[in-house]
Amino acid sequence: MNARSSLILILLLACHGHAAAVVATPVQSLPVLENAANIEAFEAAPTTTIIPNNSFSSQSAFDASWAYNYPWGTDHNGAARMDKSQSKLDPASNTLTMTAKRVADGSQKPAKQGGKTIAIHYLAGTINARQHITVGKGTTVELAGEFKAPVARGTWPAFWLTAVDGWPPEVDLAEWKGSGKISFNTFNTSSQVAAKDVAYPSPNEFHAIRTVLWDENGSDVGVKFYMDGKLVTTQVGRGFTGKAMYLILDLQMEGSSGSPGPTSDTEYAARGVSVISYKTEK
Ligand SMILES: *[C@@H]1O[C@H](CO)[C@@H](O)[C@H](O)[C@H]1NC(C)=O
Ligand SMILES: *[C@@H]1O[C@H](CO)[C@@H](O)[C@H](O)[C@H]1NC(C)=O
Ligand SMILES: *[C@@H]1O[C@H](CO)[C@@H](O)[C@H](O)[C@H]1NC(C)=O
Repeated sequence: MNARSSLILILLLACHGHAAAVVATPVQSLPVLENAANIEAFEAAPTTTIIPNNSFSSQSAFDASWAYNYPWGTDHNGAARMDKSQSKLDPASNTLTMTAKRVADGSQKPAKQGGKTIAIHYLAGTINARQHITVGKGTTVELAGEFKAPVARGTWPAFWLTAVDGWPPEVDLAEWKGSGKISFNTFNTSSQVAAKDVAYPSPNEFHAIRTVLWDENGSDVGVKFYMDGKLVTTQVGRGFTGKAMYLILDLQMEGSSGSPGPTSDTEYAARGVSVISYKTEK
């Protein structure tokens, strides 16, 4: 190697070193898309945890994410009146159990709903998420959890989203109407409903429910419903983008699930419920 080629080599090495420094430094100013580590950081950042998956692992974790009863009170459209003491945490297993217990006929004043009077036959458990759930423009929301739900006549547990202002939106992430089946539903109006009923295997065991909702086009929301890791159905909610929804876990009784319901206690358990949102991947 003569002196001249040594100089060229040194210049080449210097240029190479300089180029590497240029690639490494402008991270704050220019995203370096070729860099896999930067892409990962860029995509992971927008994920927001709305409800962490350990919200049933202590009373303080519960209180941070949930409130007792329906967002509007203790009554809805069935024979159960909700009572805080009917929802119990098991912190060790990160599980919430809601119990419906029969009360003597006439011992509770009836509920009033949509101009109807409904006799109360049970005290039961319900909780609602403190934070409203909204599928914003360009975002995806994922809800998941494991549920052990009764399917006997007169038992009407559910895991569902319903409009904060007016109605719809409503998405029934999972609903059991005393028929032995599980239902997955999206309401455009009270009569324009996508409703999918499938067999609900071994009701004495936990089943994984996962629902993915995404903004389809700035107005409509697509919904994919999964049970035990398998896609069951895909539905579309008209005009749901940007609309705030309540998230509710309730053990309602009779009503749409038939009557009379059971005289012995009925339990509905949920564990590891979580909600996250993130920018929709294109
Ligand atoms: C709960 O979420 C944490 C991260 O927030 C994760 O590491 C863990 O695997 C999740 N557990 C379950 C059972 O999904
Ligand atoms: C609800 O509206 C959306 C958007 O118009 C449509 O794609 C969907 O099929 C409708 N659902 C039903 C059950 O008609
Ligand atoms: C979204 O798509 C639906 C059809 O799925 C259509 O009826 C609606 O007008 C679209 N909305 C926008 C804002 O493009």
